Amino acid sequence: MDLNARPATLIEFVTKTQRNFPQATGAFTTLVEGLALATKIISREVNAAGLGSLLGLTGRRNIQGETVARLDEFANDTMVKTLTRTGVVCAIGSEELAVPIRLPSDHEPAPYAVLFDPLDGSSNIDVAVSVGTIFGVYRRVSPPEGIGGLEDLLQPPRKLVCAGYAVYGSSTILVLALANGVHGFTLDPALGEYILSHPDIKIPPKGKYYSANFGNRGKWTQEVERALADFEQPATEPARSLRYVGSLVADAHRTLLKGGIFAYPGERDKPKGKLRLLYEAGPMAMLFERAGGAATTGEAPILDVEPVGLHDRTPLVIGGADDVARYLKLVHD
Ligand code: AHG
Ligand code: MN
Ligand code: MN
Repeated sequence: MDLNARPATLIEFVTKTQRNFPQATGAFTTLVEGLALATKIISREVNAAGLGSLLGLTGRRNIQGETVARLDEFANDTMVKTLTRTGVVCAIGSEELAVPIRLPSDHEPAPYAVLFDPLDGSSNIDVAVSVGTIFGVYRRVSPPEGIGGLEDLLQPPRKLVCAGYAVYGSSTILVLALANGVHGFTLDPALGEYILSHPDIKIPPKGKYYSANFGNRGKWTQEVERALADFEQPATEPARSLRYVGSLVADAHRTLLKGGIFAYPGERDKPKGKLRLLYEAGPMAMLFERAGGAATTGEAPILDVEPVGLHDRTPLVIGGADDVARYLKLVHD
């Protein structure tokens, strides 16, 4: 069999790229293995949710006052347990955890801190629409021997060493931003392996779609409304189609592959909008920038936003380079 004709598995791919770093210890590959395993377990439950007892709400609210679905809780537990077991993670931050989990370095120093939205798009679970998991990985900044802490997690997204998401849709796809680019891996359910299916993703500078919750337009500032109205009915450009799922992962994945723009802007009474910096906007910003696109708050690159708290919110506009530049021009002109 010609091995070159078979696309690489995720771990074959990551192992090969790590060979370019002679100082690599294998810790990063172990971390990616953990992330892959956790998302495979979540994918299995999401796909079978209608058959078991995992649909519906837990009856509790999370730190942000939002209702917690059973699958939110399952996904959070799966991520926490799987990442803890890797032994290479010193601190964990999650949408579903009020405070971080701080982990000791057992045998060897644990060099990474990980933040995640375990299940993004939870309002779509019970209606069988795509949901996902979003994560960002920072290199630890606290002393390597001890327990990790908040300082390992509160870093601007420009410091991310890896970011990614799994989208649980018509197929399950894991998209990773690595040092050498953005790559997509589709889960082969029979093998239980992620297989390289979208090597070196580049977002087209300009796309045919625009994506925002226009139900909120009455709450937007005049500048934002003016900019998004121009994407809706362009004065000088060809018309575009509107797509909005309401799961950031699904809306971002379509935008990354097909081009266009996605916006969850701030509102007059909620200037920072809805999405969270460290486990939603930040990882998406790294993915889009590394794929040749752009990510902005409307005022500054998302990558440069300094976090103050674990659950900070930020306006988010992501898309192709020309589309985001056009948005910024329309907002500021
Ligand atoms: P989560 O399910 O993790 O709380 O995230 C929901 C987010 C995000 O996925 C999506 O972009 C946005 O909420 C949709 O919000 P609206 O319903 O206000 O459009
Ligand atoms: Mn989310
Ligand atoms: Mn969530």
